[in-house]
Amino acid sequence: MSWPGVIHAYLPYLPFAADTPIITLNEGNTPLIRADRLAEAIAPKAGLQLYLKYEGLNPTGSFKDRGMTAAITQAVAEGAKTVICASTGNTAASAAAYAARAGLRCLVLVPEGKIALGKLAASLAYGAEVISIAGSFDDGLNLVCEIVRRQPIALVNSINPWRLEGQKTAAFEICDQLGGRAPDWHCLPVGNAGNISAYWLGYRQYGKGLPRLLGGQASGAAPIVLGRVVEKPETLATAIRIGNPARWQQALAALDESGGIITAVSDDDILQSWRLLARLEGVFVEPASATGLAALKQQIALGEIDPVGKTAVCVLTGHGLKDPATAVAHANPPHTLPADITALEAYLQR
Ligand code: F0G
Repeated sequence: MSWPGVIHAYLPYLPFAADTPIITLNEGNTPLIRADRLAEAIAPKAGLQLYLKYEGLNPTGSFKDRGMTAAITQAVAEGAKTVICASTGNTAASAAAYAARAGLRCLVLVPEGKIALGKLAASLAYGAEVISIAGSFDDGLNLVCEIVRRQPIALVNSINPWRLEGQKTAAFEICDQLGGRAPDWHCLPVGNAGNISAYWLGYRQYGKGLPRLLGGQASGAAPIVLGRVVEKPETLATAIRIGNPARWQQALAALDESGGIITAVSDDDILQSWRLLARLEGVFVEPASATGLAALKQQIALGEIDPVGKTAVCVLTGHGLKDPATAVAHANPPHTLPADITALEAYLQR
C-alpha cells in the first residue's frame, strides 16, 4: 500500500475527526539512515549507533511538510481562504505548496537577501505571494502575528498548534524505525524552536521511551543558549537565523524534562559537519540541517556526552538543493579540461 501521508498514518494520535478532508502530499515516511562511517569519525571505536532522519526527502524538501499538512487541513476545515507565514524559507515553500493544493491564497514574508535560492524558487513556483521585507525573520513574525489580529487570515507559523501536531509524527516514525524504541539522544537544529517542541510532544505521547534532547543553535543566532534575545542574528545557516524564537519557553521545558542540552556551534562547525554528511555518507543537506550533528560532535569531544553503546538520531531538516549557492561557495570549483582523451588521462595520473 502506498504511504498515505502523516495524518492518515497516525490518525489515532492526532486531534482530527476521522471525516476531516485531509490536504496531503503524502509527506513523511522519510528514511532513517544508519551512518556507521560518520559514527566512527565523531566517536572512534565507541560503538555509537548513529542514524540520520533525512527530512529533506519530504515533498517540498524539508520537515515543514509534516506540520503544514496539519495546519492547512485545519485552516480549510475552519473556512480560511488565505494563509500567511513569516519564514526563513522552508516554511514558506511548504505553506505555498499545501496552499496551492488546497486552492488557498498564500502570502509569505521572508527576510530580504537572506533566503536560500531553492526556497525562493519553490515558493514562487507554487504561486505564493512572496513579500521580501527589509528586516529579519523575527520582524516578519511580529508582522504576521499583528495582521492576523486585524484580518481574517490563518497563520501557519509554528505558533499555530496544528503545526506541532503534524511535526510530532516524526518522533513516532523514529520509534517505529528503531523497532519500537526511542534513541538515547535526539539531536536537531533549533531556530524558532517549533520542531524541538513537537518532537518532545511526540515522544511523550507515543510511549516508546524518551530520548535526551540535544539542540544546536548557530553561535551568531543562539538566543536560547545565551538566555537573551539576539537583536541581529547572523549565520550562514540562514534557515535558523532567528533571534527571538516563538517556542522558546516550550523548548526550555522540553530540554529540562528530557535531561537535554542546548549548545551553540560556529558556522565553521556547521560547515564541517555538513561536509562530513555528504562525503562520508552521501547525504546532502542544507547547512542548518547539519547543526544537530555539529552539536553531537561537539558534546562528544567535550566529554559531555558519552557515546559508548548509545543510539543517537540526528534530524536532517532540509535538502541540500535548498541552498545550492552556499554549497558551491564552500566546495572546490570543478576542474576544466579540453574534451580530449589525452587530457583526461593526464588528469587521472596527476
Ligand atoms: N532546519 C531547517 C532546514 C529549517 O528551515 C528550520 C526552520 C529549522 C531547522 C529550525 O526549526 O524553527 O522549528 O526550530 N525554519 C523556519 C522557516 C524558521 O521559516 O522555514 P525550528
